[in-house]
Amino acid sequence: MNLPVEPDEWEKMTQGDSTTATKAAESAATVESTANIAFIKYWGARDLDEVVPENTSISMTLRECRSKCHLRFSPEREKDEVWLELDGARVNPGAGFSDRVTAHLDRLREWAGVEGGIVVETWNSFPAASGMASSASGFSALTCAFVLALGLEPTPAELSILSRRSGSGSAARSVFGGYVEWGRLGDGSAEQLHPASHWDLRDVIAVVETGEKEISSRDGHRLAATSPYFERRLELLPERLETTRRALREHDFGALGPVIEEEAIDLHLITMSSRPAIYYWKPPTLAVLEAVRDLRSRGVAAFSTMDAGANVHVICQPEDEETVAACLSRVQGVVRVIRDGVGEGPRRLD
Ligand code: PMV
Repeated sequence: MNLPVEPDEWEKMTQGDSTTATKAAESAATVESTANIAFIKYWGARDLDEVVPENTSISMTLRECRSKCHLRFSPEREKDEVWLELDGARVNPGAGFSDRVTAHLDRLREWAGVEGGIVVETWNSFPAASGMASSASGFSALTCAFVLALGLEPTPAELSILSRRSGSGSAARSVFGGYVEWGRLGDGSAEQLHPASHWDLRDVIAVVETGEKEISSRDGHRLAATSPYFERRLELLPERLETTRRALREHDFGALGPVIEEEAIDLHLITMSSRPAIYYWKPPTLAVLEAVRDLRSRGVAAFSTMDAGANVHVICQPEDEETVAACLSRVQGVVRVIRDGVGEGPRRLD
């Protein structure tokens, strides 16, 4: 849907064209990138390995949920080293995470035509792998740090394509700030619809789960089409996308809010009706959804959305942020409330 080219075309466009690799010089870069929250979700892929989505998605890049990545080329090193900074200490992040990072570095090295080991140190300001798009911020930061360390100057579209090849589709959106759409352009890149300054929307996040989710979004994408409602969702999406684009363009929160919430429920309807079924929600998720409906009945314009996890993002306007945050912090099972909002996208720190 909305994809003018076939998956193998995307593949061609994102392949490196160098045939011989040269050893990278010793160089480094540090980049901070932020997560994003999808208003219209990417769920289901035409080609999961090449990350070709079934549908177009739209998101808001955040400003507080950050991943920082320090990347250093260390040409004499045979193997990559991946470290995670946790509570001020440098820890080994475990094989699953390291393997994903190394696999992405392999793709980036191939694309750039360089070889040699790389040391990566990363840090998250928020719980990773719990449905809060840590892969989006993490892999966009890693991709940007790689190209900057090499002194390359790719276009934003190229950065988006490269980030997407990490396996995390949402990373393609996190290389842009503001409001971002992914899936309409034939080269597989995302595009900025509006900069952050266009509309100051807030995202108050009710964290109900900080551990790693049991089912990865990759498995979720793989199973999506087994839901009997998946095709129907695809039929409904063009109108929903159009409403979202128009509401963003015209600052129409009354139109945007209901679509955001309807879309999130749809995503979870698909996960719960996939075979086998995936339940991302936990009891406090439902309690937060109820609290938000209750806020609305008292005249507060706030709308819930969830990615592939139990945490609830409540989208509202600045004047309601305080009320929403106070309300969410009182819901039983909410362990932390993060007050976030629209952000500017990645930035270099060194
Ligand atoms: O970026 P991925 O491959 O982890 O998939 C993201 C899936 C959702 O967060 C549920 C939706 C989205 O568009 O961000």
